[in-house]
Order: sequence, then C-alpha cells, then structure tokens
Amino acid sequence: MRVLSGIQPSGALHLGNYFGMMRRMIQYQADPNNTLFCFIVNFHALTTVFDAELLRRRTFEAACDFLALGIDPERSVFWVQSDVPEVTELTWLLSNVTSVGLLERAHSYKDKISKGITPNHGLFSYPVLMAADILLYEGELVPVGKDQKQHLEMTRDIAIRFNTTYGETFVVPEPDIAEDVAVVPGIDGQKMSKSYGNTIDIFSDYETLRSRVMSIVTDSTPVHEPKNPDKCTLFAIYSLFLSPEERAELRERYLRPGLKYSDVKKELVEVIWNHFAPYREKRQYYLNHPDEVFDILRMGAKKARQVATTVLERARRNVGVDYWNFAYRD
Ligand code: ADP
Ligand code: TRP
Repeated sequence: MRVLSGIQPSGALHLGNYFGMMRRMIQYQADPNNTLFCFIVNFHALTTVFDAELLRRRTFEAACDFLALGIDPERSVFWVQSDVPEVTELTWLLSNVTSVGLLERAHSYKDKISKGITPNHGLFSYPVLMAADILLYEGELVPVGKDQKQHLEMTRDIAIRFNTTYGETFVVPEPDIAEDVAVVPGIDGQKMSKSYGNTIDIFSDYETLRSRVMSIVTDSTPVHEPKNPDKCTLFAIYSLFLSPEERAELRERYLRPGLKYSDVKKELVEVIWNHFAPYREKRQYYLNHPDEVFDILRMGAKKARQVATTVLERARRNVGVDYWNFAYRD
C-alpha cells in the first residue's frame, strides 16, 4: 500500500500533529508491505508564512522532527514539497476540472475568511495543490487528522472528475482518520492548531512544556467532588499517552472525590517529557548536522521525482499538452 501524507512547516509541531498524523505514518512504515511518501509542504505554508528566513528554519526543523521520530529515509520517500516543482504544474492541470463552488465550500478557507483574513488566490486554491500532492505520487492511503477530511474528499472529487473527463489517469485515494485521535484538543479545549496559539509542542523545552500543561483549561468543580472525565480537556490529552487500562484507572480517579487538577497536570508534564525523551537527543543530532539532513532530503526528492515525472507525463498526454519540444527531454 502506498501511504502518503504531508505536514505544513508553518509552526512548531505539536501533539495534534503527532497523534493525528506523524506517529501513524511511522507506524505504517513498520509494515514492509507499505511504501511511505512523507513530505513537508512548504508551498502550502506560503499561504500563511510571509517571512522567508522563518519558513526556511521551520522547514528544516520539521525535517529534523520527523527524522528524530523515526522516518527512515532508506525505506521511505521523505522530501520537501518544493524540491519537486512538477506538483505546481499538475495543480494547473487539475484546476481546470475543479469548480469554484467546490473550493468555496472548503471549511478551512471559510474559517480563515471568518477570522478576517483577506484571502489570496493561494489560500483559495490550497486544496487543488493538496490534490496534486496526493495524485502526483499515486497515494492510496492518506493518514490525516479529521480537519483534513474535507480536503481528502475534494481530492477524490477532482481525481474522479479528471479520470471521467480525460480517461483513467489517477489513483483515487482513501483518507485514513483514526477515530481516537481524530481531533486532539488544545490547551483551551478547541482543536489544537498552530494557528490558534493553543498548542503543546512536542519538542519544547521543559519550562515551556510545564507552563503550557499547567494552563490547560479545567472546570471549577471543587476538589472534594467527583469530576467528569468525558468533558475534561486535561483527561482527553492525558489519555493519548495511556493504555486502555491506565485510562480506566485515571477515569476512576476522576470519579473519586479528592482529585486535584493541578496534580494531574504535574503528572502529565512528566509523561509528555518522558515520552519524547528518546527522540529529543536524536533531534538535536540532526539540528547540529544540517548537511546530513539536506542530503537525506535531496535523495528523497530524487526518488519522489521519478514517480512524479511518470504520472505528470501521463496527465499531460491525456489532456493534450504533450511535450512538443523534445529538446527538454534527455
Ligand atoms: P495545524 O492545524 O497545526 O496547522 P497542519 O494543518 O499542519 O496542523 O496538520 C498536519 C497534520 O496534523 C494533518 O494531518 C492534520 O490533520 C493533523 N492535525 C493537526 N492538528 C490536529 C489535531 N488537533 N488533532 C488531530 N490531528 C491534527
Ligand atoms: N493540508 C494538509 C494540512 O494542513 C497538509 C497537506 C498538504 C497534506 N498536502 C497534503 C496532507 C497531502 C496529506 C496529503 O494538514
């Protein structure tokens, strides 16, 4: 199975990214029947990041994060989106079978507008670029968080429309959303997101982690009363790190009088810190050896490009824009 997913380098990566997508990609990599295509979507990040140096740094850090967490560049194809520029060409071919109505219905686009952002064309056509990402590499299964469900449906619509118009060209992908981690809440109880300022980052320093966890919103139930785990953001975040038995135990503690949220928060700081401890050192190694990271990404882009050129050529042929100038080919 070809498993494919991407992440934007628009900010530090957080628990929502980790549980919703990164950890699941790494789990898929362990199965030898899968080929992983994993990339950092810096073209997409251009819709919100307007500082070149910052984007460069975030892109590099996201690569280090993935490598530290276990993406194996020998077994998987791991690269930065913009290193395979064919994706922008495919975006154009797809644009012509994408209706404006479809794009206008995109939740993420509507959300951004409702927050007062003046939309540019990049933001509007974001889902078309995402469809190109998936179709160019013939992704079959796409692990993402629930917020990306609609984007995946749009990709499927675009692929089917293209195949119907021009003949079989693309593999129609399946979204893969794990129910238990579909929406990881942020410290304010809303969906955790880089753009909401409510994240707990996976590789922050200890003090920052502590202050973020200590500020998770909880209700005002007095200590001597039982608490409701099902309405508690702290419980939801803590649960991500627990086995079913441990989760049942924590639930029991909530239901017994005497539980102090601040005690649970202090425990959670340690749990998160220890969970990522083995990866922290590896991450530091990559941060200190940028040339090694660049080599890995270059090798990944080369492998990705081989698939991309074959699929793009097929798409070009099927729409009738063959390579007229054969001088371009070697
Ligand atoms: P953000 O919303 O922080 O900008 P991205 O859009 O870069 O995150 O998302 C990268 C991946 O992480 C996607 O697959 C997305 O669905 C997943 N993801 C992001 N936030 C969450 C969350 N709170 N819960 C579950 N998955 C998430
Ligand atoms: N839109 C995705 C997000 O914000 C990122 C993304 C871009 C992506 N291209 C993709 C995810 C292709 C999966 C497959 O999370």
